Amino acid sequence: MATKPEILISESVIHTRVRELAEQISKDYSGKDELVLLGVLKGSFIFLADLSRALTIPRTIEFIAVSSYEHGSVPSGAVRLVMDVRGSIEGRHVLIVEDIVDTGQTLHYLIDMLKSRNPASIRTCALLHKAHMTTAEVDIDYLGFSIGDEWVVGYGLDYMEQNRTLPYIGIVHPDDRN
Ligand code: PRP
Repeated sequence: MATKPEILISESVIHTRVRELAEQISKDYSGKDELVLLGVLKGSFIFLADLSRALTIPRTIEFIAVSSYEHGSVPSGAVRLVMDVRGSIEGRHVLIVEDIVDTGQTLHYLIDMLKSRNPASIRTCALLHKAHMTTAEVDIDYLGFSIGDEWVVGYGLDYMEQNRTLPYIGIVHPDDRN
């Protein structure tokens, strides 16, 4: 990548919003035995790490991996399960944690699939939402930020596997996509 991605959402703004989300989630699930935070790999790993540590309720961590993009920025249109949840979610409260909802296909697929396993409840949390790009019917119960159609990287998100560990959300300009 030729230049460092321009900042769209700074580290401190992310930090504040993640704490607010954690406070709301902790309030909503207070009194429950346990909340299963289900991170969608790979992109959610940093958001999930920060969110889970800011919660004040009993929580456990699970991961699932799906693939929605063939390569780089070209969407394949299909969602493929790459790695399933290790434990059973039957009778448990599940919160799906995503870094970004774009078309919504991934979240739609996951909700459908996980609902059939009879969890006690299932809700969704995403750091970013490209609202005007979303074609699938999905509800995001806990949302960090709505963004435009920029290609974003950092805080877990990548472009061709680069820049996942940037501490902020940055924009990759078309000239830098090579
Ligand atoms: C990204 C993101 C979501 C999905 C959202 O994952 O993490 O899971 O795309 O897109 P959608 O709303 O159009 O379905 P990606 O396939 O890029 O994999 P990664 O998380 O491993 O980078």
